[in-house]
Amino acid sequence: MKLPTYQEAKTRNPIAYQKEQYKLPRSLASKYAGRTYYLKTYGCQMNEHDSENIKAILEEMGFQEANDYKTADLILLNTCSIRENAHNKAFGMLGRIKHLKESKKDILVGLCGCMAQEESVVNKILSDYPWINFVFGTHNIHHLPEVLEESIKKQQLEIEVFSREGNLIEGMPAHRASNYKAYVNIIYGCDKFCTYCIVPYTRGKQRSRKKEDILQEVRQLVKDGYQEVTLLGQNVNAYGKDLKDGYGLSQLLEDVAKTHIPRIRFVTSHPWDFTDEMIDVIAKYPNIMPSIHLPVQSGSNRILRLMGRRYTKEEYLNLFHKLKQKVPNCTISTDIIVGFPGETKEEFQETIQLAKQCQFDNAFTFIFSKRKGTPAEKLDDPISLKEKQERLQQLNEVVNHYFLKSNQSLIGKIVPVLVEGKSPKKKNQLFGYTDTNKLINFVGDERLIGKIVDVEVTDAKTWSLDGTYHE
Ligand code: 5AD
Ligand code: SF4
Repeated sequence: MKLPTYQEAKTRNPIAYQKEQYKLPRSLASKYAGRTYYLKTYGCQMNEHDSENIKAILEEMGFQEANDYKTADLILLNTCSIRENAHNKAFGMLGRIKHLKESKKDILVGLCGCMAQEESVVNKILSDYPWINFVFGTHNIHHLPEVLEESIKKQQLEIEVFSREGNLIEGMPAHRASNYKAYVNIIYGCDKFCTYCIVPYTRGKQRSRKKEDILQEVRQLVKDGYQEVTLLGQNVNAYGKDLKDGYGLSQLLEDVAKTHIPRIRFVTSHPWDFTDEMIDVIAKYPNIMPSIHLPVQSGSNRILRLMGRRYTKEEYLNLFHKLKQKVPNCTISTDIIVGFPGETKEEFQETIQLAKQCQFDNAFTFIFSKRKGTPAEKLDDPISLKEKQERLQQLNEVVNHYFLKSNQSLIGKIVPVLVEGKSPKKKNQLFGYTDTNKLINFVGDERLIGKIVDVEVTDAKTWSLDGTYHE
């Protein structure tokens, strides 16, 4: 297994679209009936959805889900590489599992996800964690049954990690976390190569699913009573570019909207690929939710250039205002990185200014984390961690103020809510999300779960709303 270097990865092989159908070998169906698994997922929605596939594959093999890793026969970590702390969490968990395995020698332990795609991580596992039973990469999920079998047969660490993406796999089963909301992959990988980001290495080249496969999956979800789909990709706006048949995200959104699924969301959008046609389609169809995640990363043009983001602050603002103007009641959330190598105090203040100008409805804020093999790893980074932490705190104070302001603007309004379940925190209350993706708690009958209902907003906090349901 060799991870491509930055240059090698960037010169991506022009592989043709090749579909492969997942199928569990018959000899493995229900082979492990009576055994249990525990799957821990780190990271983004892509990983969450991969875990839905992994769970279903394990269940086809007969495993049943355990609630606690300490009681499971198989423990699997689906890992994330995006920042150092994601690595630390997974290695911390491996430490606890090692302890457990000392007294329960027969348990099987596996590691998959983005960390498995990192050569340095796999080397560390070989040298420091040889007691792990198997490792498989993000392009090898469909081979989980075979990898697991091999590791049991050989009684040694089995590793299957393709350094290059292979075929596009269709037909994997999914044990979905919700009966009402579903993730649907539309594009895998990323070709943007932002200089700080490890995703183009761990997830590989941009590969779009065929529209027929996506639409068939959505139609089935409609039949199964799902109320919402989230179309997934590292950069959904690039959907279709690799298929070169002129069919892109705007056409796909329109076709998905015509399936009459009540709610459509999509993440994540890169501003560079966001076209006017997409905005028009979002504005036209009421079942495309007026809520866009549009990462800006920085408010400084010099830093944006160093990040390789391909847009200026002015171009971002232009798109931002176009969305606000054309899509009624549109909320916009973002991602921001502080402390990119060499970011000056003034450049950081430009990010603060941008946050004040945009008044984002939600923002995920991060301190820059050096990732192995990325171009930003080599940049001089003289700013201290303490200074970066202070910048993050200052930014958080600004963005939090606007989350509250945005929530307060809804007090007294009636909003449509997809009711997801009983509130885990508030006794006798239900929770759900508004069309604009805001969490709301309210008193209501359990029979409302799974339905889209009108709720009056009565109070607003920074992270959630309170409401009253009127029959
Ligand atoms: N350091 C900090 N944040 C990062 N992100 C991606 N890579 C890094 C990194 N090396 C953030 C970006 C991206 C989000 C998913 O994670 O803001 O949009
Ligand atoms: Fe990473 Fe997103 Fe940039 Fe792709 S577009 S390289 S996933 S930050």
